Amino acid sequence: MRAASVSDYRELARRRLPRIFFEYIDGGSYAEVTLGRNVADLEAIALRQRVMRDMTDLKMSVETLGQTLSLPVGLSPVGMAGMYGRRGETQAARAAAAAGVPFCLSTVGVCSVEEVAATGTPPWFQLYMLKDRGYMRELLARARELGSPVLVFTVDLPIPGARYRDIRSGFTGASKLEAALAQAWDGITHPGWTWDVFVHGRPHTLGSVAGAVKQGGRVTDFLAWIARNFDRSVTWKDLDWVRENWDRPIVVKGVLDPEDARDAVRAGAQGLVVSNHGGRQLDGVRSSISALPKIADAVGNDLELFMDGGVRSGLDVLKGLALGAKACFMGRPWAYALGAGGEPAIRKMLDTIRAELAVAMILTGCNDVRAAGRDLLDLD
Ligand SMILES: Cc1cc2nc3c(=O)[nH]c(=O)nc-3n(C[C@H](O)[C@H](O)[C@H](O)COP(=O)(O)O)c2cc1C
Repeated sequence: MRAASVSDYRELARRRLPRIFFEYIDGGSYAEVTLGRNVADLEAIALRQRVMRDMTDLKMSVETLGQTLSLPVGLSPVGMAGMYGRRGETQAARAAAAAGVPFCLSTVGVCSVEEVAATGTPPWFQLYMLKDRGYMRELLARARELGSPVLVFTVDLPIPGARYRDIRSGFTGASKLEAALAQAWDGITHPGWTWDVFVHGRPHTLGSVAGAVKQGGRVTDFLAWIARNFDRSVTWKDLDWVRENWDRPIVVKGVLDPEDARDAVRAGAQGLVVSNHGGRQLDGVRSSISALPKIADAVGNDLELFMDGGVRSGLDVLKGLALGAKACFMGRPWAYALGAGGEPAIRKMLDTIRAELAVAMILTGCNDVRAAGRDLLDLD
């Protein structure tokens, strides 16, 4: 199958990846109500078609946090990407750099921040607050030293939400024997992945935090360690601690409520990602896109506003911009593309997003993404 859209990459990833990893990427928490809403609410927004305007010149680039993005798009942090494609985070970082958009490296990436920075473009770095502050301090110093321009501080995961699909697939909660059997079966039935990732994609550790993990050999052991070490005591005051250790822009990721957005401004964040973690945390909360307008009204001029969750096309990107985002981030779309065909597939996926955004701009009469506003939407 030749992929034309994000849903095609999803299907290709479903075929190529071991079940545990596909379900881990694709799934959400509990009944997956919020996961569904993220996509459905974006789909339900109607663009306003406008015609007979000179749309010869389109401006798609934006300036944000001291950087120029050639598209108002970024790749959200996705954990364990090195299990979906060989040294997956480096492949994604290269594809993002080629497209002129930021790649944000997860705290729990398989590739370390050093390995990703060695591609030539230091990534934005995503931080989970772990209890071991000494280690966190060192990690921030490493990312800073390597030139990461922006810190993305994820605040919606003081505890991981339950993901039923991971239990059913045996990814979490399985005994060592069950996991070994499932892995062997997955290996036999997914030879492309086995050759690419299992054999040639080692080491399978969580590169940036490997030094802090005392026990465990499998990636799932690392995840279990991380889950036990999330710091639930974190408050806005801890942003001061982060700032003491990070003198570049800080983006808070995982806010859905205007009150929290105001607190983020008061705490001195330079950016905010309106996000529900792709429907992987508190199921039943509203979609990111439906939360965005109120947050834009509350704080839109006080910091750089981004959103993620459910963005599957360039048309969706324009909807996000119209409702107040400076750029829209995507998580699953690049993870699917990575699983489907590595860096070339992520590049093509980003090309597709660019082409779709161009069509959406031309047919809504928007020739500069910076001017995208609610007038592009048919909100009746
Ligand atoms: C497989 C997977 C792993 C993720 N890992 C992280 C992570 O390590 N850190 C983080 O801040 N967000 C993580 N997220 C959330 C994404 O950054 C992003 O908020 C979400 O995927 C956006 O929704 P979308 O997948 O619909 O684009 C992850 C999401 C997925 C699907």
